[in-house]
Amino acid sequence: MRKPFLAGNWKMNKLQSDVTGFFEQFVTQVESCKNCDVLLAAPYLSLKTALDCTANSDIWIASQNVHWEQSGAYTGEVSAAMLSDVGVKFAIIGHSERRQYFAETNETVNLRTKAALSAGLHPIVCVGETLEEREAEKTNDIVKTQLLSALEGVDALDGLTLAYEPVWAIGTGKTASPEQAQQVHSMIRSTLVERFSKDQASHVRLLYGGSAKPENIKELLGQEDIDGGLVGGASLDAASFAKMVQMS
Ligand code: PGA
Repeated sequence: MRKPFLAGNWKMNKLQSDVTGFFEQFVTQVESCKNCDVLLAAPYLSLKTALDCTANSDIWIASQNVHWEQSGAYTGEVSAAMLSDVGVKFAIIGHSERRQYFAETNETVNLRTKAALSAGLHPIVCVGETLEEREAEKTNDIVKTQLLSALEGVDALDGLTLAYEPVWAIGTGKTASPEQAQQVHSMIRSTLVERFSKDQASHVRLLYGGSAKPENIKELLGQEDIDGGLVGGASLDAASFAKMVQMS
């Protein structure tokens, strides 16, 4: 059995006082929810505050990216060693907004994934098609290519989480139907069976992302291969994200 996993992604939102305010509410609201793993991905500048606020809880904190070099002349970048050093345990990698606005490619997603793994940081690797690609019936090809490229040279799925995020469903209010999402999740799991092993593929958690909210999380999680959610908008509000955790 795969334990449900809800990961909030704050993107470029929240000032320090918002972060402390969020956790003051959220930590108590999810304290008793032991059936679901919970994570919040905060902007780099808020990581330390988020870690301090969650120190006595089971909530994990993630970064929203990670560079592939350990250190050096890479202005504006943050390495896996730096993240681990402050206590961060997870990193989102390859989010579609990174691919779309910041020239992230399958190759750089792969470099970041390998760097995170070798530094002991758990990657949450994102894949997903655009609306144009879906309409051209290229969803499976695109997602499979993104997945296999991201995992090139990776020996095992231990410590990894994958997120399927159809780009057309992110921040648009349009959710993939549970059946549409399940179809892609099942394809991802079969690809992982072929690439790794049945055992490894059956243990890895596959999150769905794209307008996940309290109103649809139960139905999404009811699908066989959907093990959790990567939640943007609905994770900004403590009550709404806590509700999702309580329902999972
Ligand atoms: P959304 O974002 O829930 O606001 O659609 C999801 C994501 O980008 O991770």
